Amino acid sequence: MFEQIAAPKGDPILSLITEYRNDPRSDKIDLGIGVYRNDEGITPIMKAVSAAEKLLLAQESTKAYQGLTGDELFNEALQNLLLGTTSALGRTTTLQTPGASGALRNLADLIAATKPDSTVWISNPSYINHRPIMLRAGLKVEEYPYLDPKTKLVNEAAMLAKIAELGADDILLLHGCCHNPSGADISLEAWQQIAALANKNGFLPFVDIAYQGLGNGLEEDAKGMQLLVDQVPEMIISTSCSKNFGLYRERTGAAMIVSNSIEQATNARAKMCELSRGSYSMPPAHGAAIVRTILNDAELNALWRQELDEMNQRVNGLRQALVNEFQTLSQSDRFNYFAQHKGMFSLTGLSDDMIAQLKSEFGIYIVGGGRVNIAGLKESEVTTLAQAFIHVGA
Ligand SMILES: Cc1ncc(COP(=O)(O)O)c(C=O)c1O
Repeated sequence: MFEQIAAPKGDPILSLITEYRNDPRSDKIDLGIGVYRNDEGITPIMKAVSAAEKLLLAQESTKAYQGLTGDELFNEALQNLLLGTTSALGRTTTLQTPGASGALRNLADLIAATKPDSTVWISNPSYINHRPIMLRAGLKVEEYPYLDPKTKLVNEAAMLAKIAELGADDILLLHGCCHNPSGADISLEAWQQIAALANKNGFLPFVDIAYQGLGNGLEEDAKGMQLLVDQVPEMIISTSCSKNFGLYRERTGAAMIVSNSIEQATNARAKMCELSRGSYSMPPAHGAAIVRTILNDAELNALWRQELDEMNQRVNGLRQALVNEFQTLSQSDRFNYFAQHKGMFSLTGLSDDMIAQLKSEFGIYIVGGGRVNIAGLKESEVTTLAQAFIHVGA
């Protein structure tokens, strides 16, 4: 039967990694794959994570199945981290999932099982996997305007005008913070207007928050989402511990369902368990155990927050250093957007030719579309990057 399968198109980000690895130049720069790196170019295991792992290893007494909902202490801790200060806490349920990817798919399956004619609206541009995940669940996908290619910031007027047209059969997928791939986030005023439109027209807000703590800090990054959840009757959330706990390969995330009542939210979570039983069954335990250990231990919690702050400051420091370097070299403000963007990425608007030239002449690896992973840059590479950008005519 497998002879029928044509060779699939390679994943552009993964093939870029291979090319980068095979490049013999010692001064090559990888700004492709979306992982945080420290100034030595390493994606470190956070100290709080290592300490939690030691505790877990010492305490672990079984590898028996955990159950469909995953680790309930993790679910509770994460729910508090995201929504603890909101009025929605008492009408929310949380389900541990294999990463935010698993949450996105589970929630999409829930929508497909509950309201199959729904259309999911994603931003233009959006996270590369949003569309395929929603489509695979059998949902329709449309785009709302988001990024202004000139300013490289959000065109909120255009975005809100489209959102105002959405109705009861629509799901609005928003990035909680640190928009991937653009780095351009919406203002609190826009979150407020979205809340008013959701209440008026009845669409369901769906917030994907994968970078909490890597934009303006843990509390600050959740503000838009919290403002929305405080005001709308129903909302769904996917969240990831890949970036802010550095647990990428442990596949740690969660889906949250906010409803009118805790009974409705509980039923929806039970439905998601039924759906996951038909695929991966239950989520992996280790990553969630690490997160729950950290969040429920005052010392580890403080250490984790400090480490996350340091990561955040490193990225924001690089953004400012880039802007300073660009101002010196180009005598213009046209690269100031780097410091206005939040999180790991910036969408630069580089053409395919410029991206190819950066790779061939400078060994600088950037994915097609021009997304740059600022969190992969070293301080010592800032000048080279700025010079190379100007050289290729960015
Ligand atoms: C916006 C967004 N959502 C979800 C994910 C998936 O995260 P996870 O590794 O937890 O599956 C990512 C990862 O890059 C992302 O950028």
